[in-house]
Amino acid sequence: MRTLITNGTVVNADGSQQADVLVDGETIAALGQGLAGSAVGANVDRTIDATGKYVIPGGIDVHTHMELPFGGTFAKDTFETGSRAAAFGGTTTILDFAVQAKGKSLREGLDAWHARAEGNCAIDYGFHMIMSDVTDESLAEMDQLVAEGVTDFKLFTAYPGVFLSDDGSIFRAMQQTARNGGLIMMHAENGMAIDVVAAQAVAAGQTDPYYHGVVRYPTFEGEATNRVIRLAEAAGVPVYIVHLSSHDALDEVRHARDRGALAFAETCPQYLFLTLDDLGNGFEGAKFVCSPPLRPAEHQVELWKGIIRDDLQIVATDHCPFDFHGQKDLGVGDFRKIPNGLPAVEDRVDLVHDGGVVAGGITKERWVEICSTSPARMFGLAGRKGVVAVGADADLVVYDPARKHTISASTHHMNVDYSCYEGRVVQGGSDVVMSRGKVIIENGQYTGARGDGRFLKRSVARDYLR
Ligand code: URP
Ligand code: ZN
Ligand code: ZN
Repeated sequence: MRTLITNGTVVNADGSQQADVLVDGETIAALGQGLAGSAVGANVDRTIDATGKYVIPGGIDVHTHMELPFGGTFAKDTFETGSRAAAFGGTTTILDFAVQAKGKSLREGLDAWHARAEGNCAIDYGFHMIMSDVTDESLAEMDQLVAEGVTDFKLFTAYPGVFLSDDGSIFRAMQQTARNGGLIMMHAENGMAIDVVAAQAVAAGQTDPYYHGVVRYPTFEGEATNRVIRLAEAAGVPVYIVHLSSHDALDEVRHARDRGALAFAETCPQYLFLTLDDLGNGFEGAKFVCSPPLRPAEHQVELWKGIIRDDLQIVATDHCPFDFHGQKDLGVGDFRKIPNGLPAVEDRVDLVHDGGVVAGGITKERWVEICSTSPARMFGLAGRKGVVAVGADADLVVYDPARKHTISASTHHMNVDYSCYEGRVVQGGSDVVMSRGKVIIENGQYTGARGDGRFLKRSVARDYLR
C-alpha cells in the first residue's frame, strides 16, 4: 500500500516545512515538495490532501495504566478500548506499566501484561515495569527485562503497603539499573508522611475528596523528588520523575539539572489544566482524585515555564480511568478509599495544542517534541517513532489546527463514565491517524482492527539522556 499525503505542513521538533509525505508499506519512503506528479510519488494507491493541516508524528503517551488493579478495583479501559481511544486522540504509541505484585516475580507481572495487551491493541505499545518487591531475585530479573525491551523500572515512595519501596530498596534497584543501561522512573511523594496527615484529616471529619488534595502537601512531593534524585546521583543512574505536579518538585528537578544530574521529568494535562478547586463540590470532586493531587492554580504557571525551559521534557497522561458510579464511589465517606487516577489518553494531544500552541505559550514544534519526539528519544524509540522522516514508522497524524471541538464523556471513546474536561472547547483535532502506514482513524471513525498494534521491544536510551 502506497499513500501520498500532499500539501501539508510537516511539523517536527526541529522545524516545519511544506512537504508531501510518501508512505510505502509501514514506513515513510519519501518527504519533499512536489512529490505529487513526480516519479517518486507515482503509482500510489491513495492520496490524502492535507492542505491547511499539519502532518505530525503520532503522539507517544509514555504513561498509561490500562486495567491497573488499584484500591480493590481495576482501571476501566482495557488495552482494546484504551488504545483505540488513544488513536482517536492522535496518539499512536502507548507505554503502559506492567506490575510486579508483592511476593511475585517481575516475570509473572510482565507475562500478565503481555497477555492482556497482545492481540488487543489498536496502536503499537510497550511496557515499563513497576517494581513493588525489590529482592535479590527481582534485581537479577531486571537485566533480562532490559534485554527483552522493557527498559525502565518505576518505583514508588508513595502508597505504603501497596507499591512503596524503602530507600534502600530503591537504591538497590537504581544500582542494578546503572549497570544494565535502563532508566529509573519514580513516583515521588512522601507516602508515609501523607498517611499521617490523611489519618488526622479523616479523624477530624474531613472525609471529602477535596482533602485528598489538601493532605498530600506539595512539600511532600518536593522532599521525595529531591531524595530520589540524590539517590540516583549516588547510584549513577538517570532518573525520570513521573507525573510531576508542583512547583516544589519542579524546583528540585531544576536544581538537579543545574548541577548536571541526569534528572528528567514529565507532567500531565491534569496538572496543566485542572486545579485543587476541581476537587471541591462535595463528592463530585472524586472525579479528580489522582496522585499527586491537583494543585492550587499558581503551580500551573511554573509547570508551563518548566516545559518552555525543558526542565520538563514530556507531557504524558497517567491515564488511569475509574467510573464515577461504581468505582470512584468506593470512597464515599473516606477519600482514602477513592481509586486514584484520571482518564486522559484521548485528550492529551488536543489539550496541549490548545492550551500550549493556540494559547501562545509554546511553538507547534515544541508541542510535537513534548508529545512525541522526546518520548521516543528518552524511551528507546528514536528514529523509529516520534519523527516524520524517511525510514521512520509511518505513524502519522493529519492534524487540523483550526478545528474546534467540545470534550465530553458523551462523545469520547475512553471506557469511562465522565470526563475531567466536560464542556471544554479545544482548538485542534486529529483528522486522519495512521499507524505503521494503515489509516486507523478517518472521518471520526475507527477504521483499524483489534490487534493491529504490536509490542515494541525498546532499546536503552542512555545516549539521549543528557
Ligand atoms: O493517581 C494515579 N496517579 N494513579 C495511577 C497510579 C500512579 O501512581 O501512577
Ligand atoms: Zn505514580
Ligand atoms: Zn501512573
